[in-house]
Amino acid sequence: MMKQHFDQSPNKVLKKDIKDYGPDSCSSEDDDTVDQIQVIKKETKKQRNSVSAEAYGMFNKRENFKPIVIAKSQDTKNKIYKRINEAFMFNCLDLKEREIIVNAMEEKRFKSGDQVIKQGEEGNYLYVIDEGQLDCFKKYQNQPEPTYLKTYQPGESFGELALLYNAPRAASIVSKTPSVLFALDRETFNHIVKDAAMKKRQKYEDFLTKLPVLQSIADPYEKTKIADSIEQKCYKQGEIIVNQGATQGDIHFVESGEVLAMKNGQQVFKYVQGDYFGEIPLLLSRNQPFQFISNANNTSLLIVGEGNYKNTLVIVEKQLKANLSKYNGQI
Ligand code: CMP
Repeated sequence: MMKQHFDQSPNKVLKKDIKDYGPDSCSSEDDDTVDQIQVIKKETKKQRNSVSAEAYGMFNKRENFKPIVIAKSQDTKNKIYKRINEAFMFNCLDLKEREIIVNAMEEKRFKSGDQVIKQGEEGNYLYVIDEGQLDCFKKYQNQPEPTYLKTYQPGESFGELALLYNAPRAASIVSKTPSVLFALDRETFNHIVKDAAMKKRQKYEDFLTKLPVLQSIADPYEKTKIADSIEQKCYKQGEIIVNQGATQGDIHFVESGEVLAMKNGQQVFKYVQGDYFGEIPLLLSRNQPFQFISNANNTSLLIVGEGNYKNTLVIVEKQLKANLSKYNGQI
């Protein structure tokens, strides 16, 4: 029962599509989550394109920003550092920025059944989970009851959409067990985290939308999470990307350039834009049978690390496993 509400204050690639990816080439779907996020994106684009007076206003606001410091023990600070170092949302921040976040975060405790976020209301905090589990529900337009979406675990964060897009809360979050959360206020989020987080999402979301292996994902929010988790790396011609025998199963998507899969010195596969590789150790719990080498001077790869797989790509595991047939007995 909800008691309280606290959130007041080598596969075939569609090469043409992928080459043309850009903010306006998103596919449309008719569920209301999609509509909501797309509407929000349009508004955000408008905001970004608007006159320089707004930019001037933003600049002034930045100048006026006075970091909040909420007193806390060194032990609590250490816990917050640990959590923000693992959360995607804070990946791009430097040490000084991380310190500002740690100072501003406030520990909040919830009992089992407490409602932390209520869909449709204004949102003022982003939350990072330190302890406990929280359930996420979403009420869709044509359904009488909210749909259960997922259970959040320690280390994960939620509540960023309302702050990123200046929109009402897109789902409800209820504490399933007693929980300890670190809450970051809207103002600190806007000044320190928002720009970098938005940039990363916008940079990769449209590319991911066009990838055949991700086509079965209906909820665009799932693609957003993949975008958050991506690490981009560039490789020169001839550079080794993954060694034969590697135990790590990071999944590499080719953003541009070309990659060769080699087995015992022989080329066995070629990967181009939109293809992915590296998944075999993760899916089959065995060593990597190929060596992967860059075959272009600026091969750009978008990598989802094995550690992030459960929160991101596990949703397409069936498809990833079905696609293993492309290796035609080479593994
Ligand atoms: P926000 O809209 O601020 O508050 C509710 C949060 O639920 C949202 O941010 C996301 O962090 C999280 N959430 C998880 N899954 C979804 C989903 N499918 N659609 C929207 N929000 C989701």
